[in-house]
Amino acid sequence: MPAQTLAARAGHWLWTCRAGFEPHLYEELEWAGAHPRLLGEALVESETVTGLSPAFARAGYRVVVSLTGGTPDAVAEAAAKAVRSLPGGGPWVVQSFTPDTPRGNTLAAPAEAMEAAVRARLPPERLVDDAQRAREAGAVLVGLCMAPDGVTVVGAVPAREALSLAAGGRRRMKRAGESPSRAAMKLEEALDGLAFEPGRGDVCVDLGAAPGGWTQRLVSRGARVVAVDPARLMPELAANKRVQHVQESAFAYAPEEPADWLFCDMAWRPLEVAQLLAKWGRRGWARHLVANIKLPMKDKNPVLLRVRQTLEKEGGWEGLTVRQLYHDRDEVTVTAHRMK
Ligand SMILES: C[S@@+](CC[C@H](N)C(=O)[O-])C[C@H]1O[C@@H](n2cnc3c(N)ncnc32)[C@H](O)[C@@H]1O
Repeated sequence: MPAQTLAARAGHWLWTCRAGFEPHLYEELEWAGAHPRLLGEALVESETVTGLSPAFARAGYRVVVSLTGGTPDAVAEAAAKAVRSLPGGGPWVVQSFTPDTPRGNTLAAPAEAMEAAVRARLPPERLVDDAQRAREAGAVLVGLCMAPDGVTVVGAVPAREALSLAAGGRRRMKRAGESPSRAAMKLEEALDGLAFEPGRGDVCVDLGAAPGGWTQRLVSRGARVVAVDPARLMPELAANKRVQHVQESAFAYAPEEPADWLFCDMAWRPLEVAQLLAKWGRRGWARHLVANIKLPMKDKNPVLLRVRQTLEKEGGWEGLTVRQLYHDRDEVTVTAHRMK
């Protein structure tokens, strides 16, 4: 780790990740030939982007300008100038963030103040707040990264291509009051990024379902859920007519009819889980997949590569996305679908 945060280079890419995952993100970018450089805690730069989105990046922006030092006014002025220099006449979604680290988080208030100062210097008619709607309107997501050691980076990415629409990929969610487990937020974040979502009447199989956070979210969307887990479900779910609890190992379970969606949050070895999900794909037992893959090992990328290969080559799963979401810890979330 550099002793001081390094400035990013204009035209390069700025990536931010979960604290402590910089080496994994760096390695991923290096393997992809993107020539990475570690800038500081939770911040990695790369010279280029490659076809596959990096799994360990929460958000990524093309660097417009990197500023070091300067008064808040001077930084806001230079940042606003950089935003005005962006090509195209579409709307801008301007979002500040700090690296998600103890040092970075102390900068939250100045970062918010900088965002307000930058916005005040931009034509109001170009600014939009609702990133979701802005994506459809072809907006550019502008990231103002305030990092320790006086480094501020202004980056931009078309909202349609952004890894996340949340500032710095920090997709905070209110904890749903009725939700039985924190895991539910991981599911909601995963569903957020999908073009279509499970809904009324869909048949979902939830492997590793207990205590039932995911199952509960799916039921509340109107789906029918087969919850497969040797462990017990929350009593109110076990009693729900739209939930069938199969109290056995997911490795022994075979569905009676194909499902619309396969969910998996099993706390089990990633390569064995990938084999199981590949079997579901091969046999056409589900059309859509959302799986949380646990990666407790030190060397995560080689395992992740094999997981990808197993799902695609042995399972026929397509359109694979592999992302460490904001709510993911030592794990990544995979989504995919099957055409037939
Ligand atoms: C992280 S928890 C799942 C949390 C759940 N998604 C929720 O929202 O409440 C992991 C679950 O995997 C289950 N599990 C581990 N091995 C399994 C297997 N072979 N078959 C089915 N479930 C398994 C565990 O019993 C545990 O309940």
